[in-house]
Amino acid sequence: MSTEPSALDDLLQEGRRFPVPEAFLEGAPHVSDASVYAEAESDFEAYWEGWAEELDWYERWDQVLDWQPPRVKWFVGGKLNVCHNCVDRHLKGSRRNKAALIWEGEPGDVRVLTYHDLHRLVAKFANVLKQLGVEKGDRVAIYLPMIPEAAIAMLACARIGAVHSVVFGGFSPDSLADRINDAEAKVVITADVGHRRGGLVPLKSNVDRAVVNTPSIEHVIVVARGAGIAEDVDVGMQAGRDQWYHDLMRDVRGGVPCEPMDAEDLLYILYTSGTTGKPKGVVHTTGGYLTQVYATTKWVFDLKEEDRYWCTADVGWVTGHSYVVYGPLANGATVFMYEGAPDWPDRSRLWQLCEKYGITVFYTAPTAIRAFMRWGEALPKQHNLSDLRLLGTVGEPINPEAWMWYHRVIGGERCPIVDTWWQTETGAIMITPVPGVTETKPGTATRPFPGIQAQILNDDGDEVRAGYLAITRPWPSMLRTVWRDEERYRQTYWSKWKDVYFPGDGAKLDEDDHFWILGRVDDVLNVAGHRIGTMEVESALVDDKRVAEAAVVGKSHEIKGQAIAAFVTLKEGIDSSDQVASELKAHVVEKIGAIARPEAIIFTADLPKTRSGKIMRRLLKDIAEGRAVGDTTTLADPEVVRKLKDRYEDEE
Ligand code: PRX
Repeated sequence: MSTEPSALDDLLQEGRRFPVPEAFLEGAPHVSDASVYAEAESDFEAYWEGWAEELDWYERWDQVLDWQPPRVKWFVGGKLNVCHNCVDRHLKGSRRNKAALIWEGEPGDVRVLTYHDLHRLVAKFANVLKQLGVEKGDRVAIYLPMIPEAAIAMLACARIGAVHSVVFGGFSPDSLADRINDAEAKVVITADVGHRRGGLVPLKSNVDRAVVNTPSIEHVIVVARGAGIAEDVDVGMQAGRDQWYHDLMRDVRGGVPCEPMDAEDLLYILYTSGTTGKPKGVVHTTGGYLTQVYATTKWVFDLKEEDRYWCTADVGWVTGHSYVVYGPLANGATVFMYEGAPDWPDRSRLWQLCEKYGITVFYTAPTAIRAFMRWGEALPKQHNLSDLRLLGTVGEPINPEAWMWYHRVIGGERCPIVDTWWQTETGAIMITPVPGVTETKPGTATRPFPGIQAQILNDDGDEVRAGYLAITRPWPSMLRTVWRDEERYRQTYWSKWKDVYFPGDGAKLDEDDHFWILGRVDDVLNVAGHRIGTMEVESALVDDKRVAEAAVVGKSHEIKGQAIAAFVTLKEGIDSSDQVASELKAHVVEKIGAIARPEAIIFTADLPKTRSGKIMRRLLKDIAEGRAVGDTTTLADPEVVRKLKDRYEDEE
């Protein structure tokens, strides 16, 4: 297991407890009675059925759950449309004129789209896609900055039954091409540029480089994001392939209706890193996914009509799918969206936005909180954050110190904090406080959401207090498969125990039976809340002709949680140097994207291996962390480790 037991024991000594704040209860939260847990347990299928009934369906299901492990179907035979539930159904009554999206660009431009506006744009863009030949079941790649068109594009796909694959705008052309090819997307939607820290991200030119290698792409749709702001953005538009979004929207006549979809029809594919060099296409479907994102958004974020809700995630990640777009819009909420960096033009941008827009519910990642802490509390204190009433975190374990800072400085000691554990694969929140009910402790995601069943198991499948996190019952928003790789789906998630889902995390229970999530137990790193496979980075490194072998491990990092340390053996005759190290870092960025840039490259003549030739990552990790090197008797050449350790200490 990757987390040190001693660190864990320290964590579990955390004695601070935070009952639900009075001020929060005065706001009459959706849930203030713990009986919801027992009710859900008494008949979990009926409980989820109750949630599904809060959505609009064209046809009701015949069966709630069909579980033939690991194949699952929820709401069998039901027909609905996600876009209808997120947009069209709010057009009746006062929500019609309510802000669905309030958006601010990094340069300070603002747009507000009411549900009426959102409907008009989504229905028209759905028609654009149709006219370009996109049909139900076709895949559409979306490579956009955080602009309203990202949500519009996703909803337009859902409207006509096309399957979207959103690719985070920070990924490189190679990563984009791999994802497009795996899904065989017909269309890619991008922007000329994105704005980031005052600079421009050349999204369209990345797409140009990617689509050279993607035979399935027929059309590139380009949103003009630089126009009027960055005058001299010149994106060569290739005739017959590339079209401007605004031209297509101007020329299309009206919108199209929502396509009735089967509950089990695909909604999206989202790629996430695993233990091999190739990211997995996680497949989510329609009815169960929407039911659980709807339910968790309502109860975990306690969303009310008057809230202004801000989840800082990018739509390129699952958090952006479930808790920027689908969950809150299914609830008819007002979602705030911001395009840019938190430290532009200065480090108080997010607090200035919270004040300006009167944000009431704020959801972000521990890595961001640790950065805010480092920047100092004077910055948030310059802003009036009194509208905030609930805070959330996601993406990695939150250290109690960061939790306390968030509680005190941002939450003014009056806001509950929901530490939400879930994954791309789970689709929606799984372990979390319910804010009107759960007493919280800094550092624990507390207990499974009502209707969810989780346990901690050992390798043999016995229940233990510390071991592997396991989800022991199907849940509506679970992934259905890995895109075109059923075998990988079975192997990765369902082969550890019989009919029990293995998320890949270690966890421990405390005396209240609250879950403490300890981090990944596989070869997946969590860098600034983003999942990166060690093998992916290793493949990128050995792709450089000078590299003979590479081994990548995680190393603790004050802000990012983990940073990447790469041990590299160069080919005969190539000398190591700072220059080579920085070129290799740049190569990884070129192959994958900036999120995968190694923090440290350590050159070594040999990598420590077992006699059977397996790289001893645990040992490398010890070295990267600067810890004492453990037992090396299984090493083929124990001398290697000593040299490595000396070398590493020299570099520090
Ligand atoms: O290790 C867990 C960690 O993030 C992983 C999932 O990453 P991803 O699929 O990219 O989704 C991130 C956003 C849902 C998990 O396997 N993780 C996520 N949330 C938490 C967490 N670890 C501890 N506490 C959390 N609240």
